[in-house]
Amino acid sequence: MPASLRFLVTGGAGFIGSAVVRKLIAETSHSVCVVDKLTYAGNMASLASVSGDARFRFEKADIGDGEAMRGVFASFDPDIVMHLAAESHVDRSIDGPAAFIDTNIVGSFVLLQEALRHWRGLDGERRERFRFHHISTDEVFGSLGAEGFFREDTAYQPTSPYSASKAASDHLVRAWQHTYGLPTLVTNCSNNYGPYHFPEKLIPLMIINGLEGKPLPVYGNGANVRDWLYVDDHADALLLVAEKGRPGETYAIGGDNEMANLDVVRTICALLDELRPDPAGPHERLITYVTDRPGHDARYAIDAGKIGRELGWAPKQSFESGLRRTVEWYLANAGWWGDIRSGVYRGERLGAG
Ligand SMILES: NC(=O)c1ccc[n+]([C@@H]2O[C@H](COP(=O)([O-])OP(=O)(O)OC[C@H]3O[C@@H](n4cnc5c(N)ncnc54)[C@H](O)[C@@H]3O)[C@@H](O)[C@H]2O)c1
Repeated sequence: MPASLRFLVTGGAGFIGSAVVRKLIAETSHSVCVVDKLTYAGNMASLASVSGDARFRFEKADIGDGEAMRGVFASFDPDIVMHLAAESHVDRSIDGPAAFIDTNIVGSFVLLQEALRHWRGLDGERRERFRFHHISTDEVFGSLGAEGFFREDTAYQPTSPYSASKAASDHLVRAWQHTYGLPTLVTNCSNNYGPYHFPEKLIPLMIINGLEGKPLPVYGNGANVRDWLYVDDHADALLLVAEKGRPGETYAIGGDNEMANLDVVRTICALLDELRPDPAGPHERLITYVTDRPGHDARYAIDAGKIGRELGWAPKQSFESGLRRTVEWYLANAGWWGDIRSGVYRGERLGAG
């Protein structure tokens, strides 16, 4: 395999995409072109550490704009597409599903068509080498009871507009592989957390509200269980799959860190008590129970055995070490989240139904 490949990363200004791009530039000799529409969730500040690199390029564009995508494929000439652009927040999908249909379903379709056109124009080794890697979620599998794990062969049963739109895109990607032979890869992963996470999501919202002495809103009774994956561990897994995964295959990725939401919030409170004590009292006093999310899935958990066996991946961070790093990052980077909190998102409740 050539040492330097050309990676087209959609959604590269988002939370996970920017972690992938920072890793590609800092730890490999590959070149990167980020395609991102810069919605409310896209943030060039998350790419500041790599945007001056000669191997980095940025195109502001909508993946649903076929002409623009054709232009990017023609001029950048990628070897690997990593498709992360999406509307990603379940609560927003409840308030306004249209954007989820447009980007996650129609946008993915347009991108697949342009990837197929590009792949068909490649010769020999480059055609063999080309990959279209679609990054998806474990939410496509629906909800688990107290027992069991999602695996690559778990039946699809999405329940929210977000997860239904991601399920649709997964099906399209597999159909383009099966029907047209496009060499695709699909990964389904659990909840990510870590630095540069948009503060509408549970963990950054709790850290920032806790720092500001604001209520910590826990949905329902806080018993919903999620598996938590540190974003840099996920980025490692994604690069392994993109470079070494078997075309046509799916890999489930999880952190082996199941925890009830209330316990996540309590752990954050304990870390804040230690790292930034509040003279007014322990941070747990700020926990407030609010109306549950409509149709809130009870439990997600992943069996990540396949990617471990086939590609040798395992997460490096435990939930304790990853959460400590995350809280420390938010303490040290108030400028990054302060700009968001004073602008596009002020911490309001979304998706109450
Ligand atoms: N965050 C998680 O816990 C998680 C878990 C599993 C899977 N995923 C999947 O991983 C991917 C990335 O998630 P994230 O948390 O980084 O999301 P994010 O919301 O932080 O970032 C999404 C990025 O996509 C861009 N974007 C949105 N619509 C676009 C469009 N039409 N054209 C071009 N760019 C567009 C946004 O500007 C943003 O930069 C998504 O596909 C998501 O479904 C996320």
